[in-house]
Amino acid sequence: MKRAELAVLLVLALGGTAMAQDMSYGEAEFMSSCASCHGIEARGDGPMQEVLRQRPADLTVLARENDGVFPYNRVFSTIDGRFQVPSHGDREMPIWGRHFIEEDTKTFGDKAGEIVTDERIHELTNYIKTLQR
Ligand code: HEC
Repeated sequence: MKRAELAVLLVLALGGTAMAQDMSYGEAEFMSSCASCHGIEARGDGPMQEVLRQRPADLTVLARENDGVFPYNRVFSTIDGRFQVPSHGDREMPIWGRHFIEEDTKTFGDKAGEIVTDERIHELTNYIKTLQR
C-alpha cells in the first residue's frame, strides 16, 4: 500500500472513532432506550410499534406542531412521567423518571441520584430538540 493511501485510511479510521466518542450522552441513551419504539431517526417507526396500541410519537415534528417552538417543558415532563396526571387511556411509554431514579439513587445516593436523573432527562430533551425538522 502506498503511503498516501495508508494516510487516508488512518484518517478515516480515526475519524470514525472520534465520531463514536462524540455521540452525546443524549443520543446514546436515545439509541438504547427509545429507538426500539420511536425509531432510530425518532420518527415514530421503531420495531416495537407493532405491539403497541398507540403509535409512538414522531419526535422530529414537535416544534413544527407547536408553532415552531420546541415544547421543552412538555417534552421533559413527558419523558420523566413521574409528575404527570394520568390522562385518557393508559400511558404506553415507560415512566423514565422512575426507571432512572431507581438506577441513579442506587449508584449515587438519594440527593445526587435525583440530580443525575434530572440531567439524563435534560440530555434526552436536548437531543430531541436537535432532531426537529
Ligand atoms: C414501549 C415504547 C416506547 C418507548 C421505549 C419510548 N416511548 Fe416515547 N412514546 C411512546 C408512545 C406510544 C407515545 C405516544 C403516546 C403515549 O403513550 O404517551 C410516546 C410519546 C413520547 C413523547 C411525547 C411527544 C409529544 O407529543 O409531546 C416523548 C417526548 C417521548 N415519547 C420520548 C421518549 C424518549 C426520550 C424515550 C426514551 C428514553 C421514549 N420515548 C421511549 C412509546 C415509547
